[in-house]
Amino acid sequence: MTKNEQYRLLTEQIKALIAGETDQVAVMANVCAAIHETMGFFWTGFYRVVDGELVLGPFQGPVACMHIPYGRGVCGTAWQQHRTLVVPDVEQFPGHIACSSLSRSEIVVPVCAAGGDVVAVLDIDSKQLATFDDTDREYLEGICQLLSGCF
Ligand code: SME
Repeated sequence: MTKNEQYRLLTEQIKALIAGETDQVAVMANVCAAIHETMGFFWTGFYRVVDGELVLGPFQGPVACMHIPYGRGVCGTAWQQHRTLVVPDVEQFPGHIACSSLSRSEIVVPVCAAGGDVVAVLDIDSKQLATFDDTDREYLEGICQLLSGCF
């Protein structure tokens, strides 16, 4: 199966999973599990905006940093800049927060509430360099848009 086909199926699965569900933690938990299991990433999870910082939410993978300040690391920068960041080599990203020395590349996608505010970020890490491309960006942004209805 191509990456496109995997993401198309994953998107359909996520639509079915979250249909009618309003509990944000339940939605984030199952969405990161579905992404992680389907795509086989190293770490897949959410950080939520809580009292002006990012706080670790539901995730799959090794233990991770629990608090990330606004504008810090890839996650805090994606939140600040209100856009997806694709980082092919985390060592080249100024201020990258290394939760695991095994993480080599990552993508962070903001999750926005219906009103447009960033309420969380989806953070995915890979043990390989340059794992994420425009296909990942396109489908993961689509998945995060689906979540907007729950926030
Ligand atoms: N690498 C992230 C921190 C979170 S962990 O990767 C799970 C960052 O710099 O924002």
